[in-house]
Amino acid sequence: MTGSPSKSHGRKTISQMVKPRELMSHTPDLKGAWRAQIITLFPEAFPGVLGQSLTGRALKDGLWQLGTIDLRDFGEGKHRNVDDTPAGGGAGMVLRPDVMGRAIEHAIRRGPGPLVYLSPRGQRFDQAMAHDWAGLPGITMICGRFEGLDQRVLDHYRIPEVSLGDFVMTGGEIAAQAMLDATVRLLPGVLGNAESAVDESHSAGLLEHPQYTRPAKWEGLQIPDVLMSGHHGEVAKWRRAQSEALTQARRPDLWAKRRD
Ligand SMILES: C[S@@+](CC[C@H](N)C(=O)[O-])C[C@H]1O[C@@H](n2cnc3c(N)ncnc32)[C@H](O)[C@@H]1O
Repeated sequence: MTGSPSKSHGRKTISQMVKPRELMSHTPDLKGAWRAQIITLFPEAFPGVLGQSLTGRALKDGLWQLGTIDLRDFGEGKHRNVDDTPAGGGAGMVLRPDVMGRAIEHAIRRGPGPLVYLSPRGQRFDQAMAHDWAGLPGITMICGRFEGLDQRVLDHYRIPEVSLGDFVMTGGEIAAQAMLDATVRLLPGVLGNAESAVDESHSAGLLEHPQYTRPAKWEGLQIPDVLMSGHHGEVAKWRRAQSEALTQARRPDLWAKRRD
């Protein structure tokens, strides 16, 4: 698959010319570019998957910028400690408020955009939130580790908590990348085809219709005739009906909201 230009169906593709971490320093601070800052104990985890494909191309082109703030740099003492045992006892460690406070002050000095703490206790991230974030100048995300962050930091800075879903991961880095991917692809110019975000699942409160491509017959299964008919009106009608049927069957919660 490498070497030849891949078929992109009207969307941009990226070749792997720049090493992923170099993408983050590839462009100097660009005025007006949407800017993500990540406070993390694992800055080397970025850009991670965000350095690939459309988000990687957009990073290289300066449509958005990504910066990491290494929490360890703000740690206490010779060993740059960032955590301590939970007050009241119990398992694990908690990220210290003084250490995180210094990292947050640094982030506030450096970049625009509100602070969010990635946390399984938070409001569930969704497409509407991605749209809201894409309309901001940027965002600063705090990735927790261990048992999480001292509550006083959240209270003092009034930081909202946002969750990737009802499960617990070992840290916020994967959640940060997932949420940034969903947000960055909504920034102007990131998707090659301006239409492509419009018809997707969740953009209009519906799940997307099924997709097919060549060959026309595979394992004895045919592409539905209507999609091969060349009749755009009929194709649109079929897709709409499929979207509605899928949403009703799989996500009655979304379907109910749509009719409100
Ligand atoms: C092991 S978790 C801490 C879980 C915490 N003790 C609790 O029960 O709510 C460590 C860190 O991973 C991140 N994390 C884990 N699950 C997440 C989720 N579903 N969404 C966003 N971040 C998550 C958070 O930053 C959290 O501070």
